[in-house]
Amino acid sequence: MRGRFISIEGGEAVGKSTQIQLLADWLRGQGHSVEVTREPGGTDSAEAIRSLLLEGGADRWNARSEALLFAAARADHVARRIRPAIDAGGWVISDRFIDSSRAYQGIAGGLGDAAILDLHRFGSGGFLPDCTLLLELPADEAARRATRRDGVASDRIGGRDAAYHEAVAQAFRSFAAAEPARFRLVDASGDAASVHDRIVQAIAHMAA
Ligand code: TMP
Repeated sequence: MRGRFISIEGGEAVGKSTQIQLLADWLRGQGHSVEVTREPGGTDSAEAIRSLLLEGGADRWNARSEALLFAAARADHVARRIRPAIDAGGWVISDRFIDSSRAYQGIAGGLGDAAILDLHRFGSGGFLPDCTLLLELPADEAARRATRRDGVASDRIGGRDAAYHEAVAQAFRSFAAAEPARFRLVDASGDAASVHDRIVQAIAHMAA
């Protein structure tokens, strides 16, 4: 039996890592085999691309080369890790996937959604998650958490200005509205246990 693929999306510091671990434990408790992975990254080659993307100066890449690197990392991740795990009947949870490229590079970065989807078709056959959980926090709460987590040191992309991150948040909301069958919106405010309960409810339709 084919497994399931869940992506977790959202802006900076919405609590994705904590929630992914809680969800993975919960699914294992239901008897599923679960792999947790992340983007950019998830394979040795894609992790090498991650360093290229997130380290260095703001102008290390232009918008197009940045989008191509994300697509290249994703192509390796899908072919060598995500698809094989799902074909073997496992569940895969990825911290970010294609919707991050659509929101960050496509909308906030100005390349447009169609260009990012074209790259995804070429790189990864247009492969999509069975379910995408969009964790949402009010912008001021997200900024407070990011400062607490990263101090002043954030990466090349996390460190972009508030207008960029607001465009990312709006883009995620518009993707969710356009594809209600794939997306579930999750209120990420409050303590981790409450957010976890909301996530379990949000994927109830898949776990059956
Ligand atoms: P994270 O590990 O904190 O989520 O960092 C990854 C950063 O890369 C984050 O700022 C979002 C950004 N990103 C993109 O811009 N495009 C993408 O396709 C992905 C997967 C991440």
